[in-house]
Amino acid sequence: MNRTNWWKHAVIYQIYPRSFQDSNGDGIGDLKGIISRLDYLEKLGIDAIWLSPVCKSPQDDNGYDISDYRDIDPMFGSLDDMEELIAEAKKRNIRILLDLVLNHSSDEHRWFLEAKKSKDNPYHDYYIWRDGEPGKAPNELKAVFGGSMWEYVPELGQYYFHQFSVKQPDLNWENPRLRQEIYDMINWWIDKGVGGFRMDVIDQIAKEPDQMITINGPRLHEYFREMSKNTFQRADLITVGEAWGADTERAKLYSAPDGSEFSMVFQFEHINLDQIPGQEKWDLAKLDFIALKNVFEKWQKELNGCGWNSLFWDNHDCPRIVSRWGNDREYRKESAKMLAIVLHGLQGTPYIFQGEELGMTNADFAIEDYKDIESVNMISERRQKGYDDADILHSLHAKSRDNARTPMHWTAEKNAGFTDGTPWIRVNPNYTQINAQENLEDPDSVFYCYQKLLALRKAHEVFVDGDFTMIGKEDPNLFAYIRENAEETMVVLANFYGDTIARPAIEVINGRQAVCANYADEADVLRPYEARMYVIGK
Ligand code: GLC
Ligand code: CA
Repeated sequence: MNRTNWWKHAVIYQIYPRSFQDSNGDGIGDLKGIISRLDYLEKLGIDAIWLSPVCKSPQDDNGYDISDYRDIDPMFGSLDDMEELIAEAKKRNIRILLDLVLNHSSDEHRWFLEAKKSKDNPYHDYYIWRDGEPGKAPNELKAVFGGSMWEYVPELGQYYFHQFSVKQPDLNWENPRLRQEIYDMINWWIDKGVGGFRMDVIDQIAKEPDQMITINGPRLHEYFREMSKNTFQRADLITVGEAWGADTERAKLYSAPDGSEFSMVFQFEHINLDQIPGQEKWDLAKLDFIALKNVFEKWQKELNGCGWNSLFWDNHDCPRIVSRWGNDREYRKESAKMLAIVLHGLQGTPYIFQGEELGMTNADFAIEDYKDIESVNMISERRQKGYDDADILHSLHAKSRDNARTPMHWTAEKNAGFTDGTPWIRVNPNYTQINAQENLEDPDSVFYCYQKLLALRKAHEVFVDGDFTMIGKEDPNLFAYIRENAEETMVVLANFYGDTIARPAIEVINGRQAVCANYADEADVLRPYEARMYVIGK
């Protein structure tokens, strides 16, 4: 295997630390808790852990608002715990990827506290300011979590720019001193032994607020290349750029094979196909299945040989996929496995979000149970606009980020084995049926299907370099494709929905046994949510 490409065989597991495993009974997951679960992750067969932010933070956006990039929030533990986690993971051949939030800091970061002292403070220019008068924001830009992107500071007679909450002021990447501080900090973490970085909303760092540009700004790739040269290229890392706004052309820059930017891009085109176009994510529409297949096909074909994509259904910002596009009732296990098989046969680096490998489902919360800043702000905004609570709740059940953030289900014991104390957010009551212990005891579980898929990816090069052909593009139920290289052919056949459908005739798999499937026996139809994967040598 080519050394520069070793990570193309890797699978990444995302941990949302506050909801993974509590070790001290305060109801919040922590680093020691993660260390205690590394054997479980090793058994699953992962290569790296993407840790959502654990740096010091006032937790306005659950850690995506960092007040000290070189320290761990006491809620999660200490720097010593972090070093222990890196070392313990390494023993199991698992690397730790940090989540770097570099588009903005917390308003409690030392830089911002200095910056707002005066216009001539050396840190003032680390952030983005415009002169103005109260009540007259520089422009109409609306923040991602609601309200204006501009916040007035009366002592300065200036507004600062924030694309997310008022407690997340945007950093000014035009300032070379700020960029250098960031590179020094990244190098400090590299020297501590981290295995890579996930770069939060990195497509938003090159903003031009006066021109209303918040994403894909003109200097974006210049900054990426400078950062990569000054940091990532010193070491053998996995780096992934989160990019809501990347098309395939831009993605090829992000993941250029010469390593000048990042290892791979993490983009969302496939994940936004169940909302009313042009409206908010809360404005629900039925999934456009044909569009979903077209999007996957486009990314598979266009990046083949010249770029590298991430493969995911779930993360801490998305609802649980089995509830979203599977069937979380009578076909929960079948559909969870089907979704896994469809995704894991593709080219790219698969990501598993904690609990996905157990077939965990969306939270069934009441309005007052929601904790996430995005959901809480949406509730008050929509109430003000006159939406009724039933409507609001309907959107939250489908799309709230809290769906993915309920505590991990370890056992059928109290609080799902997540904590001895009071969990910071409600545990999903279905933990008595869906949990890691039950999965590990059942050879036919969702967990073992994921384990199998991870092992197959390691064993067969066709997962990495096989060319892609979609089958039955216009079929309203079938998700099927072929991957092929000089040595092997892989075939994936899946029924994406609950009605039995015809099975397409594909000669190479005649008389063959599936290497991974969610029904034990072969049949001449595809049963509800049935999925089968074949790998055939030439
Ligand atoms: C990213 C994170 C999300 C966070 C936002 C602001 O999209 O994944 O959780 O709220 O950036 O940092
Ligand atoms: Ca704790």
